[in-house]
Amino acid sequence: MNWNRIRDKIDETVTAIAAGMSIKDIREMLRGEPPSSRPNPRYRVHTTSFWFHIRPRWYPKSVTRFTYTFALGWISVFLLIIEGITGLILMIPYTPSPERAYFDMLNIIGGVPFGDLMRDIHRLAAEAMVVSVVLHGARVFITASYKRPRTFNWVVGVILGIITLIFSYSGYLLTWDQIAYWAITIGSSMAETVPLIGNQLILLLRGAPEVGAAGLLRFYTAHVVILPIAMVCMLGVHYYKVVRQGFSRPPGLEEELEGKKEERVPFLPDILIREALWAMIGIFILVVVAAFLWNAPLEDHADPYLTPLHATAPWYFLWVQGLIKLPDVFGPIEGKFVWGVLVPTLVFGLIFALPYIDRNPRRRWQDRKLLLGIGGLFALALVILTYMGTPRYGLGTPPADEIILEFAPGDREGQIHQLPYEALIDGTYDTSTFTTLSPPLPLEKFLAALKARIESEEGLPDGWAELTIQTWQRDLKRINLTIIWMEEGQAVTRAEDVYIHRQAH
Ligand code: HEM
Ligand code: HEM
Repeated sequence: MNWNRIRDKIDETVTAIAAGMSIKDIREMLRGEPPSSRPNPRYRVHTTSFWFHIRPRWYPKSVTRFTYTFALGWISVFLLIIEGITGLILMIPYTPSPERAYFDMLNIIGGVPFGDLMRDIHRLAAEAMVVSVVLHGARVFITASYKRPRTFNWVVGVILGIITLIFSYSGYLLTWDQIAYWAITIGSSMAETVPLIGNQLILLLRGAPEVGAAGLLRFYTAHVVILPIAMVCMLGVHYYKVVRQGFSRPPGLEEELEGKKEERVPFLPDILIREALWAMIGIFILVVVAAFLWNAPLEDHADPYLTPLHATAPWYFLWVQGLIKLPDVFGPIEGKFVWGVLVPTLVFGLIFALPYIDRNPRRRWQDRKLLLGIGGLFALALVILTYMGTPRYGLGTPPADEIILEFAPGDREGQIHQLPYEALIDGTYDTSTFTTLSPPLPLEKFLAALKARIESEEGLPDGWAELTIQTWQRDLKRINLTIIWMEEGQAVTRAEDVYIHRQAH
């Protein structure tokens, strides 16, 4: 056997795969030695390799400083790749149909090997990606990196940000559980408020007047085909622009460096090895959190006939929900349209146009006080509106209704359903007078929790509850929960009947 020929063949193959770098070149690179062949084979990679030609050959040293970019653009790309890989795996056991989707989710969690891990990582990286993309946009704003010549890339970036949000939102429906179903139903109903074309928009989004099979299929197609294609195309432009225009330098340093030659950090090997290390650390963190510390939420099966008590948008859209709670002061024009559609569209329009509105060429903080101040106020408004979007703010569900829904609702599962059938002992119980045995019976624990909940509720002065349990038919209990409290010297009541069958347990 001719060993030399085999060695040459291996070298040839490695050179082809490594886009022009032989084994010797790779060895030199990894040892940190200068390249011995000319032209520099490490540069050749950038022109001949599909994967590397969108990366610069070298970075200016000031840009590699972590505290300048916080690597947020890089983290966004890393998370997108993780989403792509886990998403493709999840497509195998998942069917986008209302009959199957939820049960496929249960199977992914409990039956498919590593399914739960894949789902948790997909969900975790999705949430993290929204955060990193928003923070990356904020970094570009704060360091004024959107100014000429990078104005166009800012616009491309905002489109990428919007694609990320739609990605997350469309993924949200795929679990086909209560929260997903209602968040999408309520979210897409915003389109209905648009004058003239509202109904057409709804049909376009949902494929039918209500969210159902057609809507699920549309969201799925968007999630796994349209958005990935759009994302990859736009990201290609974003990267191309970053490489072509060069990175912006930290604002203060830019002036200092003018005319001087800045130290360069080569992409191969310095940057690539650092990135490979961080990618490993990133995957390690995602796997540990997803496997041991956190579980992606999944509620009950979607039910079009049962509106959950607090249907909230995903957290990154709570600010829109907060906006809708603002007073309706627009006369004939529907407030939901103005606050929920017009204002967010205007906000995104302003963000798009930022580099064309802000014509001040200076990038140092001292010269941008006004705009940075406005940016700060904008961030503060987002935080406040997000809080207002949560059910904690001004939702107006009467406290007694909340308690009934929590403890003994007639149309869904409440705490009373958690009790064993035998624990539902016939009788009338009054939370203001009852005493517990030691150890307490399950029903007594329930009553104690009910009592504590009513007493901690400010909206129910001098409140107490009466619980009546009767055997209504064979193996069927009728339970009546009445909450009583005082309002302006008068007793007010709110009551609910619940029927529980022995077989329901
Ligand atoms: C690029 C290719 C992607 C593919 C092929 C893909 C595929 C899928 C599939 C099949 C599901 C349903 C299974 C499940 O819910 O676990 C899903 C869910 C989801 N996806 Fe993606 N996805 C991709 C990217 C993304 C991105 C970039 C994001 C967010 C920025 C995202 C966010 C979500 C969310 C939030 C869910 C619901 C997760 C859950 O609670 O289970 N996906 N995706
Ligand atoms: C999926 C979303 C996005 C990805 C994957 C992404 C990726 C990147 C990467 C890798 C860079 C190189 C510098 C760095 O790491 O910071 C970059 C730069 C840049 N990005 Fe993004 N980006 C995204 C969204 C955005 C958004 C939402 C904006 C604006 C609102 C934006 C505006 C810019 C600009 C102007 C630059 C040039 C910055 C400079 O030279 O300092 N990008 N982006």
